[in-house]
Amino acid sequence: MDSPQNIILIGFMGSGKSTVGRVLRRLLGEEWRYIDTDKRLVEVMGKTIPEIFETEGEIAFRDRESQIVLGVTMGQNQVIATGGGVVLREENIAAIRSSGIVVWLTARPEVIVERTGRKPGKRPLIAKAGEDVLAYVLGMLGERGPLYQKAAHIIVDASDRGPEAIAREILRKAERH
Ligand code: S3P
Repeated sequence: MDSPQNIILIGFMGSGKSTVGRVLRRLLGEEWRYIDTDKRLVEVMGKTIPEIFETEGEIAFRDRESQIVLGVTMGQNQVIATGGGVVLREENIAAIRSSGIVVWLTARPEVIVERTGRKPGKRPLIAKAGEDVLAYVLGMLGERGPLYQKAAHIIVDASDRGPEAIAREILRKAERH
């Protein structure tokens, strides 16, 4: 790889950004750091994500998310796992694209439903999706798909393989990029 500044993972909730991100950091070596923008946000706010949505609302959450993303993307040698909604703001897309290689981790809708169902309550948008989570996920993927597409330099499917195989494919594709 021609030494990108950062590798930024984007994709829908449950696509595996955090898990794959940590493995990727390990494969890249000690010079690299792993950063999870959702975790940063929780640290800065001193509240969990459901609490932030509940007490301050989604717009305040998105404002903070943007501040974190714009700050973090100034650094380098970082594997950055982002929240699934990072592509909702144009300024975030511009910041991540100019700061390194943006990887869109995709996963089949049923896989997303299964993975996000493992931690009910962790994700406020899924929690309020109602009975038919699959229909909700399909609708959201329809809306967000074009945004992920627009933001991504490379696309890697994360439905069926383990995190190490996925991380290795990211490195292969990033090298060719
Ligand atoms: C969100 C995704 C979540 C988190 C928040 C909103 C979204 O992150 O930022 O619940 O809008 O897709 P993960 O993608 O890590 O679950």
